[in-house]
Amino acid sequence: MTLTDVTKNLVKRKNLDEAISNAQKGGLEKTLGAWDLILLGVGAIIGSGIFAIVGVAAAGESGAGPALIISMVIAAIACVFSALCYTEFATMIPVAGGAYMYTFATLGEFMAWLIGWILMLEYAIGFIAVACAWTNHFLQFIKGFSSFLPAWFVNPPVWLVNDYRSAVNYCNMQGLDYHSVIPSLAGIPISINLPAIIMIILTTAILIKGTKDSAKMAGIMVAVKLGVIALFVLAGAFFIKPENWTPFAPNGLEGIFMGAFIIFFAYIGFDALATAAEECKNPQKDLPIGIIGSLAITTIVYTLVALVLTGMQPTSGVPIPEGLLKAPMAFAMSVIGMDWAAGLISIGSLAGLTSVLLVLHMASTRVLYAMSRDNFLPKVFQKVHPKFNTPHILTLTVGVVGILGTLILDLNVAASLCNFGTFTSYIIVCLAILILRKIDPDRERSFKVPFCPLFPILGILCCGGLMAYSMIVAKGESAILSTELFLVWVIMGILIYASYGYKKSRKAELSQIEE
Ligand code: ALA
Repeated sequence: MTLTDVTKNLVKRKNLDEAISNAQKGGLEKTLGAWDLILLGVGAIIGSGIFAIVGVAAAGESGAGPALIISMVIAAIACVFSALCYTEFATMIPVAGGAYMYTFATLGEFMAWLIGWILMLEYAIGFIAVACAWTNHFLQFIKGFSSFLPAWFVNPPVWLVNDYRSAVNYCNMQGLDYHSVIPSLAGIPISINLPAIIMIILTTAILIKGTKDSAKMAGIMVAVKLGVIALFVLAGAFFIKPENWTPFAPNGLEGIFMGAFIIFFAYIGFDALATAAEECKNPQKDLPIGIIGSLAITTIVYTLVALVLTGMQPTSGVPIPEGLLKAPMAFAMSVIGMDWAAGLISIGSLAGLTSVLLVLHMASTRVLYAMSRDNFLPKVFQKVHPKFNTPHILTLTVGVVGILGTLILDLNVAASLCNFGTFTSYIIVCLAILILRKIDPDRERSFKVPFCPLFPILGILCCGGLMAYSMIVAKGESAILSTELFLVWVIMGILIYASYGYKKSRKAELSQIEE
């Protein structure tokens, strides 16, 4: 095989008509309507970002202060350009796989593999990060019941609620000898994040049972979390002190942009809807409503929270309490003496995180499903459960990988890796829109990105700018480690493609010709 043949194979594009007709013939059951999609979208988006990370974005070391509202709008604008591009693609190519599939149709086989691989950072690693955050919120929540619950349950041993690294860090911070705190079995230290593992087992079971049920579950959780956010905004509005809004931007433009980068995590998730396109009853009509609708609802909710939170609590010029950084809404409520509301908000945040877990888990299985259908992964992953009609083996595999991930990954590193994966996939999707408009201009597009090529280019610039900014400005062990891990992940992806994916793809081509 010559170098020209290899190059041709690397950029070989997917035949879209074939992919669409295959998906229409068999594939996954079509059960989702517009309302299910909005619920899944809001379920995927509103989670640890607004219940936890918003505190750091507002009042962290170089936080935005009351100007958080501007950071939120910047992050939303960066997302909206990519969301429009996702919508054009998802309505045009309603097959499982999302950005992976769009890349295959435009940039060819190699880039598609790489994006599929990078999407695992967004979905599977993001899923691990949210599971770890779930544990932290759960521990916070049960502390409120310390007078009723047994002490061992309210304050579990550190090795039962942390990965090994976090448990060691905790011991070091407390001046404890970790050898005597963390037990070991045959010389291997045992430290597991049990609540996160239980949650992963639960989401795995729910997802295997069925997508429609998952949408229903997400619906209940969305109602709970929106309810507690409404409670916070309506009750908190009476306790706003306008003097807390000055200085408006204590860390100037740097604070505003850093805030935008941090809070970007809170918007991640709308793209997960595109991965479920194959399961939509009427993707052309419902997907734009689902994607744009959930992003719009989220942006309104977030800006209201930012306004009320920064009005209730000083975010600069005073020592910042830990509660404001870790669980800001619940903290602000307990400061004004509304402990019952703080408790309800904790329940809402647990519901919020659970629904994000469900959707991220589902999205990672759908990308892997599409990759397996393209022969990049073993065929067994395409198996659909005879009764539930869901890709059960894949769902189980992602669940097991998630459990293993909670043993070794730390929350901050997992969240930053998730951000890098997301930025990359948004940039590629904007680029892919520009390419497909050029190479396949006549394809029917029931939804078109307005002002093309300006909007996709702005999407590339906004996401690329925020990603580069975070790499240059971010300091600290976690930030540096996650940048390095991102590069290692990309290199690993290239090596696996070269040694496995490329050959599998050629073998599949040969067997097709023989047939
Ligand atoms: N947007 C999701 C969250 O905030 C990832 O948890």
